[in-house]
Amino acid sequence: MDNYEAAQRLGFPAAACDRFRELPTGDVQVPDNAGELLEYCGVAERDRVEMLAARPEADPDWWALTSALAAGLEEDLEKPLPSNGHTAWPVVPRSSTSVGMWAWAWALLAGLPRLLEAHRRRGVPEAVSIATVKALGGVMGSHREIYGRSGVGLMPLWGPPLRFRGADYEIGRHSFTRTNLGLGDGVAGHLLMVHVPPIGPLDPAVSEQSIAAAVQFFPQWYPEEPLYGLVCPSWLLDPQLAEYLPEDSNILTFQRRFTILPLLPPSTPYEGDHELMRLALQLDPPDGELTAADLDRIPQDTTLQRAFVSHLRSGRHFQLRIGIRQV
Ligand SMILES: CC(C)(COP(=O)(O)OP(=O)(O)OC[C@H]1O[C@@H](n2cnc3c(N)ncnc32)[C@H](O)[C@@H]1OP(=O)(O)O)[C@@H](O)C(=O)NCCC(=O)NCCS
Repeated sequence: MDNYEAAQRLGFPAAACDRFRELPTGDVQVPDNAGELLEYCGVAERDRVEMLAARPEADPDWWALTSALAAGLEEDLEKPLPSNGHTAWPVVPRSSTSVGMWAWAWALLAGLPRLLEAHRRRGVPEAVSIATVKALGGVMGSHREIYGRSGVGLMPLWGPPLRFRGADYEIGRHSFTRTNLGLGDGVAGHLLMVHVPPIGPLDPAVSEQSIAAAVQFFPQWYPEEPLYGLVCPSWLLDPQLAEYLPEDSNILTFQRRFTILPLLPPSTPYEGDHELMRLALQLDPPDGELTAADLDRIPQDTTLQRAFVSHLRSGRHFQLRIGIRQV
């Protein structure tokens, strides 16, 4: 089966079809105990039932693409995030069947036994493994919330593939991606990229405990990657938020723990707006700039929701910023 042609038949845009062409081909091994593994990944019963009823074997095109993503994950097992980054898995066309909506979750699940074996070899405690793979259940919940449909296919899956290949671990409040800093000519090092999963408030003490644990554990699990520092790319680090949030808010307290790098030109003026809308407000952003009608449908219950709307109504945009911190 040609992955490129399968992606074309399923209605993926040209860039996604090209991406599938570059992936290895393979035959994904769907684990026999899938139901049990989904429970281990914190998947709610309703989602387990739906996913088990939408196995990718049912459709040769989805089977080929699921196999390709699973084979790519296996090839990258234990590799850190490279210095040229990594791109989220392609979102599936909105018209996809339920097999398509669940297919990428099958690709992630297929690699779970190998991942857990790698964790054990590295000495990662089981509590960390469980918290790490729970992202799968979390993504399904967010998918339902944001898109009003079950599955995982409409979410740009950036973090979950990293978690399921041993590059990202959840330790307490944060997850951390092992990240290579490589500028060529021998300029290289290792960083942890800090993420803030949507699992409750960002209490400063709990956040610092999580960071301290990561700084202690990673050099034990990956002694070949001596740690220079932490990096955090996020809407949370936009200094403009200080115009709206109280000085002692969790978000501004988190900001003060990083040195914010100078602003880079965004890929589109509304890149930060989209990110804040999707990740924080859990709403599906439009394809382009937000219209007055888009802003009218944003709930106005919290300071952040009100800040979002008034900032955009005044013609300004939010920014994704990068923070760094030495350990
Ligand atoms: C990051 C996060 C945990 C911060 O929440 P927090 O600890 O409550 O943050 P703060 O104390 O600074 O909140 C300040 C104000 O903004 C509001 N706010 C913060 N995050 C919000 C969110 N995701 N949705 C709506 N309002 C939010 C708070 O309710 C508070 O307003 P209020 O006093 O009127 O109630 C939260 O935004 C979240 O879970 N986001 C989703 C994950 C995410 O975006 N991660 C970063 C990815 S790069």
